[in-house]
Amino acid sequence: MKRLGVNIDHIATLRNARGEQHPDPIVAADYLRKLGVNSITIHLREDRRHIKDLDAKMICSKKNLLVNLEISTNPKIVNIALRIKPNFICIVPENRKEITTEGGLNLKKNKKKLQKIINQFKKKKIRTSLFINPSLTDVETAIELKADCIEIHTGKLANLIKSKKKYLYEIKKIKKCAIFAKKNNLEVHAGHGLDYKSTKLLTKINQIEEFNIGHFLIGESIFDGLPIVIKRFKKILR
Ligand code: PXP
Repeated sequence: MKRLGVNIDHIATLRNARGEQHPDPIVAADYLRKLGVNSITIHLREDRRHIKDLDAKMICSKKNLLVNLEISTNPKIVNIALRIKPNFICIVPENRKEITTEGGLNLKKNKKKLQKIINQFKKKKIRTSLFINPSLTDVETAIELKADCIEIHTGKLANLIKSKKKYLYEIKKIKKCAIFAKKNNLEVHAGHGLDYKSTKLLTKINQIEEFNIGHFLIGESIFDGLPIVIKRFKKILR
């Protein structure tokens, strides 16, 4: 069974729209755990557009919940993450104007900075993942940096599938990276833009052990409810 991580940033976005407490991402995290998801993902952005510091602190303090905290390389955010100690860290690129994380990290440009951050989290025994594009060069760098995992950005694949364009080349690229990473003892995750169809296709790549899904899963729950949507994803991942 592959693991399902659910990104709950969109629940915080909905809450923030009213500036009140409902829907509460902390309650959502507990509810999702009860529905059997393997972990919760939250992204503490520099602009705090969805998850706020207190959400991150409260969610990370829950003993019975595995939390994957997405962060940029901003030193202030890194320090918060070191203090609130999530179970897992995923380092992602961040840019103020983006609607969502648009691509993987620029590993070449940020190598030194990333090495320092990875070492800091390793010292605290926090599993650290790098969000990368499906590129063998980037996998190679992730191996050099001694990250624990890579999360492969699946946004391009997801868009090709949604727009009914040819996606075979993209999926082959992801597969090659997953095989290469796994052979070199990196755990392989996938995320971004995934829905039922793209997730199902990616389950054929044995090396991918974890899927982190947010927008489609939360959006689809408006129609079918979280219990049914989670059940469907879990069936796909079985
Ligand atoms: N994984 C990472 C590293 C992300 O940054 C995101 C988006 O925040 C996701 C997974 C989830 O993407 P989506 O919301 O498109 O499912």
